[in-house]
Amino acid sequence: MRITLRLVLSIVTVVALIVLAFTLVQVHQERQRQGMDLERRASLVAESLGETIENLVEQGHSRRLQRIVEKFGNREKLAGIAVYDVRGTPLAVTPSLAARLSAPPKTVTEAMATNKGVGSFMTVGQSQMYVFVLPLRPEQDVAVSLVLFHDATYIQERLWQIWKNTFIRLLIQALLISLTTLLIVRWTLIAPIARMTERIKRLRRGDLPDSSSLSREDLLSPLASEVTQMAESLSAARAAAEEEARLRQAGDSLWTPELLKEHLRAKLQGRSIIVVSNREPYIHLRRGKRIECVVPASGLVTALGPVLTACEGTWIAHGSGDADNQVVDHLSKLRVPPEEPRYTLKRVWLTKEEEAGYYYGFANEGLWPLCHIAHTRPIFRTEDWGYYQLVNEKFAQATLEELEGVDEPSVLIQDYHFALLPRLIKDKRPDARVAIFWHIPWPNPESFGICPWQRELLHGMLGADLIGFHTQFHCNNFLDTVDRALESRINWERFEVRRANHRTSVKPFPISIAYPDYPPAPPTTQSAEDTKALLLRDLGVTSKYLAVGVDRLDYTKGILERLRGVERFLEKYPEFQGQFTFVELGAPSRTHIKQYQDLISAVEAESDRINWRFQTREWKPIILLKKHHSHEEIRPFYQAADLCLVTSLHDGMNLVAKEFVSARDDEQGVLILSRFTGAARELRDALIVNPYDIEHLAEAIRLAVEMPAEEQSLRMRMMRDTVRDRNIYRWAADLITELVQVRIEAVPVPKA
Ligand code: G6P
Repeated sequence: MRITLRLVLSIVTVVALIVLAFTLVQVHQERQRQGMDLERRASLVAESLGETIENLVEQGHSRRLQRIVEKFGNREKLAGIAVYDVRGTPLAVTPSLAARLSAPPKTVTEAMATNKGVGSFMTVGQSQMYVFVLPLRPEQDVAVSLVLFHDATYIQERLWQIWKNTFIRLLIQALLISLTTLLIVRWTLIAPIARMTERIKRLRRGDLPDSSSLSREDLLSPLASEVTQMAESLSAARAAAEEEARLRQAGDSLWTPELLKEHLRAKLQGRSIIVVSNREPYIHLRRGKRIECVVPASGLVTALGPVLTACEGTWIAHGSGDADNQVVDHLSKLRVPPEEPRYTLKRVWLTKEEEAGYYYGFANEGLWPLCHIAHTRPIFRTEDWGYYQLVNEKFAQATLEELEGVDEPSVLIQDYHFALLPRLIKDKRPDARVAIFWHIPWPNPESFGICPWQRELLHGMLGADLIGFHTQFHCNNFLDTVDRALESRINWERFEVRRANHRTSVKPFPISIAYPDYPPAPPTTQSAEDTKALLLRDLGVTSKYLAVGVDRLDYTKGILERLRGVERFLEKYPEFQGQFTFVELGAPSRTHIKQYQDLISAVEAESDRINWRFQTREWKPIILLKKHHSHEEIRPFYQAADLCLVTSLHDGMNLVAKEFVSARDDEQGVLILSRFTGAARELRDALIVNPYDIEHLAEAIRLAVEMPAEEQSLRMRMMRDTVRDRNIYRWAADLITELVQVRIEAVPVPKA
């Protein structure tokens, strides 16, 4: 209120001063104008009377002179006339004036001296008068003066009138200004501030209002959204602190992004970390005139995104989106995540031929089926191998550029696309600490041995100081393979390979997901049953039970086996027909490869066949949603499903299993998990199945749908504890800690 008052007073004062100044000028001009008017009139009257008076004075007609003076004395605002001789003795004076006039006006002497008419304002008696003196010379040496007295009180009244009007106008203006200021202040300041205060109060209580409630016109809306963001960060920090405190109390230690960041800061001592992978974490795609940013379906991306966000390093990857080059700077870099940039993504560009030979060819038609025992034959083409070498060199170049000027840098290479990269980097930068993490299984030596370039691949990998797999089993397979294929010394106690004085540790680091979420996801307000009803309604089916599968459409994922398992379950337990629907969220993947096209056709055909066999008008046993789904689209399916089917024929880890578990805040739902996944070694409370055994699969589905809620809860709680305890931050901390502990030995390396 005091601010409003001050504002009103200031405005009114300024306006009053301006009005005052203008009025002063106006009054002054009016007085001058009226004065001139009177002077003009007085000199006219004086001129016209002058001659008559001269004659009368000359002839000594004092009585006539007095009569003339009386006669003209009250005409046209004239208050009177007086005639004085040279000594100032009145010769004739209008009687009404005589009483008020004790002496001749001072200007008489002045006019006589200058012999010119002189006019001025003066007070005569009580009245304001305009006095005009005209010197006359009836004879040569005689002089008299004619003095005209005009009543000037009307001028004063006129000037007062001007002041009065000004004052009234000023009063009205002040009132209007005050009112307008009050209204403006109330609408544009007080009301938004009140809303803002209420908003901040709610934020302080942890009640985060929806930012869409902000009006764009609101003066304080930019501030409000900033405050909301700050509150969100605070509430995330508070939640993380509470969670940490809770776990500390429980004697547990939870890895969080903050803890990882602190840990890495201490370990890396200011040196940032560089991650290299084929798949990039964000792909920019052209959609008509728009550019869309998509997070690809990749376990590697799911796992590493939160790590990079926590440790703010650089991620080097293939720029595979058709709009990727439109959003980078001249160094092919951009800051990501788009919504809150935390680290740098550097894109490497590949030609069509390079992509075909290295990615589709050698990596995905050769190494992928070689490492996954899923009974798809690997294809090895010399030309593809050439491109694989070339692209590894290209990525080595891009990585070395980033390492320039950094002492003892740490490089974390990802996956089977870059088996040669560790050696290429180490050759040029022996001071670098290099790790390669192999996200897919490593087969037994006999299986791997069919690769014509197995020695070159192993030689390339052993350039690293550290090689990571998901499980000890894969580590053992790798060491066995090295043992068979290369001249080397293997320390089976320390799981190390020594070649020409270079030591490579081979260790398991079971990868995971970011759980709990940071910042914590808002608690689900909808029950699983309600979400299920909505999802099924949108899909156009009615069903009691909902099962879900989430995969890249890949032949290693056991999708056909899963469909047959569902078919067998419905066949064996017909009471579930019309009651059980399986939804497959399948993201098409590597579709330029024939085996992948064939798989998609086979999955479609198998779904159609089974649906045709069982479906009714309002129910279908299988719904195939063949597209890339975002995490936000997948989450409700995880939360609503009675069971999740992960039936990979062979899988390094499988993060879908962990995502399903982490989404089940209600501790309900059953995970059916293939024993051929890395995840099966950790999530022992899942229903572990052999996906090749269709009968077993059908039984597991029945067990899942009939499992009592208490048992579901017991199993789910155990699995959630495991995932929480071994989350992605722990994975990164373990891997990077192991890497930075490597003792650098700059020694010559042998040729393969
Ligand atoms: C697996 C691999 C990843 C790969 C992902 C998706 O998880 O280990 O390296 O990114 O599949 O495959 P894509 O070929 O689409 O990158």
